[in-house]
This record gives sequence, C-alpha cells and structure tokens, in this order.
Amino acid sequence: MPLSILVLHGPNLNLLGLREPGVYGSLTLADINTSLESEAKELEVTVKILQSNHEGSLIDAIQAALGLYQGILINPGAYTHTSVALRDAIAGVAIPTVEVHLSNIHRRESFRHHSYIAPVAVGQISGFGADSYLLGLRALVMHLRALKRD
Ligand code: DQA
Repeated sequence: MPLSILVLHGPNLNLLGLREPGVYGSLTLADINTSLESEAKELEVTVKILQSNHEGSLIDAIQAALGLYQGILINPGAYTHTSVALRDAIAGVAIPTVEVHLSNIHRRESFRHHSYIAPVAVGQISGFGADSYLLGLRALVMHLRALKRD
C-alpha cells in the first residue's frame, strides 16, 4: 500500500497568485497543487489536498485523518501564529506533520516569528516559495519511510 498524505492549505492561500505576489509569488494554489500531485507520483505516494479559511474545518480534517493518512503536510497560514487549537489537533492525532511556508516567516514581521505548530511538527520548511511544499512533501515521505524501517 502506498503512503497516503493529507495536504492542508490554511486561510487566504486560495488567493495565491493575486495575494501580495512580491511576498508569495505569482503561482496560484492550483499550480502548486499540480506540482504536488506530480511530486507525489514521483515519490510513489498518494496525496489528498484540501484548503480552508476556517480553523474548525482544518481541525475537523486533521481529526478525520486518523487511520486514513500516515502523514500531514500543512501550511497553516496565519493560524501558524495564533492557533493553539490547531496545534492541539496535530498533537492529539499524533500523525507525523511537516509545516511549510512559502515566505521565510523568520525574516518577516516579529509576530510571524513564533509558530504554535513547530513544536508538534517533525520539522518546518520556510522561505522557498512553492518549492517549500515539494521539499516538505519529500522530507515527510523520507521521514515516514525511515520510521517504517525502525
Ligand atoms: C504563510 C506565512 C504566514 O505568516 C501568513 O499568514 C500566510 C502565509 C506562508 O506560506 O508564507 O498566510 O504561511
């Protein structure tokens, strides 16, 4: 059975392409999802991709992932910096999770430097534009395959 990965895009990421292109680039979310699908094919894993602007919907998706997905790749958007509830959901299901950001959150405004998600994530990839997602997916799959070998 191939590994199944849940990809979650948080709030405002549906506006990619239009939204602050100087910060987030000109690719749309559909472009990023197409690249993720082809990276997944190369890695021989399956991906299910969801976007929501709602904290509770993201939490529902994380809870529903139990037993269905072996890993989660998430760009929590602004909830990165605000959501204890999202962090608790990830900790609660204990599904290995990689956090990604298009921009380098550590070289932006100080309110973006703190992530509630990072302490419950396997790791964080930040600052490589759309490639953050592809690197994150690859890192997550390598991590899950290493776990299987243990
Ligand atoms: C983001 C960074 C966040 O600070 C911001 O609120 C976003 C996008 C990124 O991908 O760079 O919505 O997660």
